[in-house]
Formats: sequence, C-alpha cells, structure tokens
Amino acid sequence: MSTDSRQSDHALSVTGLSVRYGRSITALRDVSLHVADGEVVTLMGLNGAGKSTLARAITGLLPAQGGSIVGGEIESFGTHITRRSARFIVRHGIAQTMEGRRIFGALTVVENLDLGGSSVSGAAVRENRERMLDLFPRLGERRTQAAGLLSGGEQQMLALARALMSSPRLLVLDEPTLGLSPKLVAYVRDTIRAIQAAGTSVLLIEQNATMALSIADRGYVIEHGRIIHEDTAENLRADENLQRLLLGLGSEGAA
Ligand SMILES: Nc1ncnc2c1ncn2[C@@H]1O[C@H](COP(=O)(O)OP(=O)(O)OP(=O)(O)O)[C@@H](O)[C@H]1O
Ligand SMILES: [Mg+2]
Repeated sequence: MSTDSRQSDHALSVTGLSVRYGRSITALRDVSLHVADGEVVTLMGLNGAGKSTLARAITGLLPAQGGSIVGGEIESFGTHITRRSARFIVRHGIAQTMEGRRIFGALTVVENLDLGGSSVSGAAVRENRERMLDLFPRLGERRTQAAGLLSGGEQQMLALARALMSSPRLLVLDEPTLGLSPKLVAYVRDTIRAIQAAGTSVLLIEQNATMALSIADRGYVIEHGRIIHEDTAENLRADENLQRLLLGLGSEGAA
C-alpha cells in the first residue's frame, strides 16, 4: 500500500491544517496526515493535544464548537472537503463517533441507529439496521429499550453501530474504548478489524496506545497541536520513549 500523501485516492489527506477556537486559541498547527484507502491509522496524544479538534475539522463539526480552519486543506477520495458542512461530509462517506458516546437516551436502540442512517435510503437503513443488530447481539436483544438504560459499554457499542449505519468509506473514531472493561476493549478491537476487512478505512483516535497499535497499520502522535511522530505501528510499538510520552512521562517530565 502506498504511503504517498499526495495521492488523491486516499480515504483522507490532511495537509498543513491549522485550527483556532475564537481568536486566541490555536488548537492545531500545520498538521499533515493521511489514511490510505483500506488502512487503519491511529492518532495518539495526551488530553488537550488536539485529537478531537482534528476529528471535528474532518467531519465538519468545528463551527458548532466555535472553531475554524485557518489554514491547510482536507481531501477525501479525491474531493476537497475543507470547510464543507457536516451534512455534505456524511454524504461523501465519512462518519464519526464522538467522544463520550452522545447517544439519545430517551430514544430506543433502533431509533438511535436509524438516526445514523439519515443520509442513506430507507431500504439501506433497514438493511444496515439488521446488520448492526447482528454484529452487536447485545443491541439486538435490547432493540426496543431506551438507549439511556444501556450500560456504558453498550452505549459505546450503540455509538459505533450508529456511525456504521451510513455505510461510511472512512470512519473516524474518537476514543471508542474510553471507560470500557478489558473485555469490551477487545470486542471493539475485533469490531474495528471486521470494519477494515469489509473495506472501510479507519482513523482511530486513542489514548490507549497498546490497543491502538495492536490493530493500526500506521500511527501519528500529536502534542500541543502538532504532529511529533509518524511511523508504522510496528516501529511505534517498539519505541519506548513514545510509550513514556503517551503516559505523560515524556518530554515535559512526570508532572
Ligand atoms: N470549543 C472549544 N473552545 C475553545 N477551546 C477549545 C474547544 N475545544 C477544545 N478546545 C481547546 O483546544 C485544545 C485541544 O482540545 P481537544 O479537545 O482537541 O483535545 P483532545 O486531544 O481531544 O483531548 P482529550 O484527550 O482530553 O479529549 C485544548 O487546549 C482545548 O482546551
Ligand atoms: Mg478529545
């Protein structure tokens, strides 16, 4: 698989991206990364590094947070998507799960899933819904239950299933394993593998480097809004300095 960042058929190609919130907070500085078609790529970094900001910039959700792209470009499968609306981007084939689940607690499991399919036809919604209820049997058993009554892990599964309802070509996952038990982390990992095997590219944002590097093809490390490392997952796994950095013991000491 090519790693040439100029190829226009990449699932995602971010070049020199800078993002600000308001006038004074610069959250991303000259960020470049790419996800080749079919790749799982992980973006790792500590709290406040800019990971969710990058996810929002890709999926069109920055304006809702008071953020704006002040430089650089984002391309996906040959189309410029910089500053396009969230609606355009989901139709283009990019779906995102947000940090902290964000499911609708008063709606049922099925109603939550169907909301994820608003960009595809009614027939595709029904088909994808059944696929998701098969892929996540726990959701299948609770299809008519209010989503707010699901356990934290089940809500996380629902958020992932909802993102898959639009049949995305690229899935952006923002910390999908946060707060999950080891067993559920393993389940999410297997699910991401299955998603990749089905042809969807994945940008996996994680603080759990062990998990992320066990399934990613390549990875990036972000610190204070800048990409500071880029390598194959194999090399990143072997890098002890990196492990320290991601535990918060890196270049700035153990404070
Ligand atoms: N809506 C906002 N308005 C102003 N500043 C923001 C906003 N959202 C994020 N920031 C700031 O931008 C920087 C990057 O935040 P971001 O949420 O992207 O980090 P993150 O890497 O996702 O962190 P975490 O691991 O805690 O989720 C932080 O300094 C944060 O305070
Ligand atoms: Mg975040």
